[in-house]
Amino acid sequence: MIHFRNVSKIYTGDVVALRDVNLDIGKGEFVSVVGQSGTGKSTLLKMIILEEKPTIGQVFFNERDVMTIGNREIPYYRRRIGVVFQDFKLIPKRTVFENVSFALEVAGKSNKEIKTNVGQILEIVGLSEKAIKYPTQLSGGEQQRVAIARALVHHPAVLVADEPTGNLDMINTWEIIELLVRINKLGTTVLLATHNKEMVDRLNRRVIALDKGNIIRDQLEGKYMI
Ligand SMILES: Nc1ncnc2c1ncn2[C@@H]1O[C@H](COP(=O)(O)OP(=O)(O)OP(=O)(O)O)[C@@H](O)[C@H]1O
Ligand SMILES: [Mg+2]
Repeated sequence: MIHFRNVSKIYTGDVVALRDVNLDIGKGEFVSVVGQSGTGKSTLLKMIILEEKPTIGQVFFNERDVMTIGNREIPYYRRRIGVVFQDFKLIPKRTVFENVSFALEVAGKSNKEIKTNVGQILEIVGLSEKAIKYPTQLSGGEQQRVAIARALVHHPAVLVADEPTGNLDMINTWEIIELLVRINKLGTTVLLATHNKEMVDRLNRRVIALDKGNIIRDQLEGKYMI
């Protein structure tokens, strides 16, 4: 589903963020990307969501070289990939329901469709009861669940989460990870970048370890171990 072929990313100032990365991620996988700060985790994820382009090499999504995706196609492409960040990026003046429904409104969906779809997604993330609350009325973990609900609204094939629990305490971290596992079980490929060793150990799924832009380990049912 996702393939990296000899991908290097060199930012201006000669910063080599990724070095000759080769990678294959199949449909339905749950993959954690680990490594110290500045080793290229976010850069790797940004290649997939088209926020950055490879300097050398190719990234394929469903057999398509992402560099061939034109500007007009990008919004459609991005609907197939949900994205969650460390800071939740919710709209403060909108309720939980409205934060999640926003992307569907923009996409021109009918009110009926929006109501059904958002209702189902809020149920998956366990926030049906909070639909009319505003972000400031929620805990950090709940806010992140709203962000996850928003990322799922177009039923993406892949959910990309960059340090989604970085701002959360242990309990909320586990709730979010359990939610990602549940989403993965429902068929969505999940790609998670994290520093959190304990979390990756407990997940016991595929781990890709980066060090200074190089993949130094890629193993199934891995542990953090670096
Ligand atoms: N837009 C940019 N311009 C120049 N250098 C950048 C840019 N973005 C990232 N870098 C550099 O590229 C390298 C990899 O950064 P990246 O954000 O991918 O690391 P990371 O593993 O996600 O780190 P963290 O764990 O701190 O989030 C770092 O040296 C960083 O300083
Ligand atoms: Mg990062």
